[in-house]
Amino acid sequence: MKQIDRLAALGLFDSRVPRYTSYPTAPVFKPETGEALQQRQLADLDPSVPVSVYIHIPFCERLCWFCACRTQGTQSLSPVEAYIGTLEQELAHVSRIIPQGLRMGRLHWGGGTPTILPPDLIHRLAKAIKTVFTPTDDWEFSVEIDPTLVDRDKISALAAEGMSRASIGIQDFDPLVQDAIGRSQPYDVTKTCVEDLRAAGITSLNADLVYGLPHQTQARMQDTLEKVLSLSPDRIALFGYAHVPWMAKRQQLIDEATLPGDRDRHALAGQAAEAFEAAGFSAIGIDHFARPDDSLAIAAHSAHLRRNFQGYTVDTCPALIGFGASSISRFPGGYVQNAPATPAYVKRVEEGRLAGARGHEMTQEDLLRARAIEMIMCDFRVDRKELSLTFGNLSEVLEPDLLKAAARFGDLVTLNNEVLEIHPDGRPLTRLIASVLDAHMPAEARFSRAS
Ligand SMILES: C[S@@+](CC[C@H](N)C(=O)[O-])C[C@H]1O[C@@H](n2cnc3c(N)ncnc32)[C@H](O)[C@@H]1O
Ligand code: SF4
Repeated sequence: MKQIDRLAALGLFDSRVPRYTSYPTAPVFKPETGEALQQRQLADLDPSVPVSVYIHIPFCERLCWFCACRTQGTQSLSPVEAYIGTLEQELAHVSRIIPQGLRMGRLHWGGGTPTILPPDLIHRLAKAIKTVFTPTDDWEFSVEIDPTLVDRDKISALAAEGMSRASIGIQDFDPLVQDAIGRSQPYDVTKTCVEDLRAAGITSLNADLVYGLPHQTQARMQDTLEKVLSLSPDRIALFGYAHVPWMAKRQQLIDEATLPGDRDRHALAGQAAEAFEAAGFSAIGIDHFARPDDSLAIAAHSAHLRRNFQGYTVDTCPALIGFGASSISRFPGGYVQNAPATPAYVKRVEEGRLAGARGHEMTQEDLLRARAIEMIMCDFRVDRKELSLTFGNLSEVLEPDLLKAAARFGDLVTLNNEVLEIHPDGRPLTRLIASVLDAHMPAEARFSRAS
């Protein structure tokens, strides 16, 4: 049987499984475990250990049809300015609970489109964050940037606040594909943005691409890949298009008849991976590429790669505190998600409450499974020795699931006393294999496709 037929028979095209940027995944979070867990976990943070901070900006000037992110369109800055005021209040509430003088090792602004903020709001937000959290000497500050909604003044403001990494949205450069996803973005505009970022001293640039978009063909993809490589990014994220119109209603504007079929989609991912590896990038986890001297590639080679809500990272801060509507905090004892809709988030903050609306408190078994799934997503292997050193006898609860994975995926998975390892040919099945270790997989949630 051809390799692709074998992967298909094992569920590559039919399975719908999480992307495991957390375990358990957000659909498992419960309303009764929101604010109270957040209050406790914030108060219990270790004052000597730096935290990571995530800020969600749920606004865009345009709403691209393919986008599944939590955001809303606005042509006016007044709701954005009001939202910055709410973030300031939320930061002030949190500062009254956390240990004083907490340091910040990482800061990420995501969205939506953080670059919708004009320079004065960039400075206002940065000041409010740094009043609560003191950056460490080697802190990293990354920002998601829409090249069509940024200019030199905004870039200078971000650079002055310490931005060290920029993540630019590209998706695809082909005009037909861009038309079909409601996102016009000429190559020259993107190139100018990259030049402005480099001129402002930003040394690390990530480019987001998506395969599986309407009208993508190998010829069009080739052109996009050449254009992307001409911009010399340091990292590339190559996401499979998650078509989830029941969740992201704007995707209903996408004509499903124009989406590439299963095998074409698989071939597009392979074509892009080959081009990046030929250009000297190292493949990282299931969907990232990085220059070999990039910290992500170095971490991947030494099994130090981690996974969080922003995808792959070298961040080892044990707590990530999320601010803004829908943002998720990860604490040593569990996850808490802020109210997802902006009005509900604003209402909570204005009532003087914490914004956490749902969450999940981790048991020891959850921590064990979370680490095992993270190992699969990052290293394509479960290091059973490391798990038994960390979790002792508890690690034996994984045994039936490891056996199940070995039986289900045959020689694409090796299982012995030391490791469960995915064979390189089986890597397209990584999310599916990880899902075998998921004890919370909700029956009713509809995830995106496994490939
Ligand atoms: C929150 S968006 C921010 C990007 C920024 N606003 C821009 O447009 O350039 C982050 C990334 O998520 C990815 N993304 C959004 N919706 C997606 C989907 N349905 N499937 C796969 N990736 C998606 C895109 O690559 C996008 O650049
Ligand atoms: S891709 Fe970026 S600009 Fe487009 S809707 Fe999503 S967050 Fe907004």
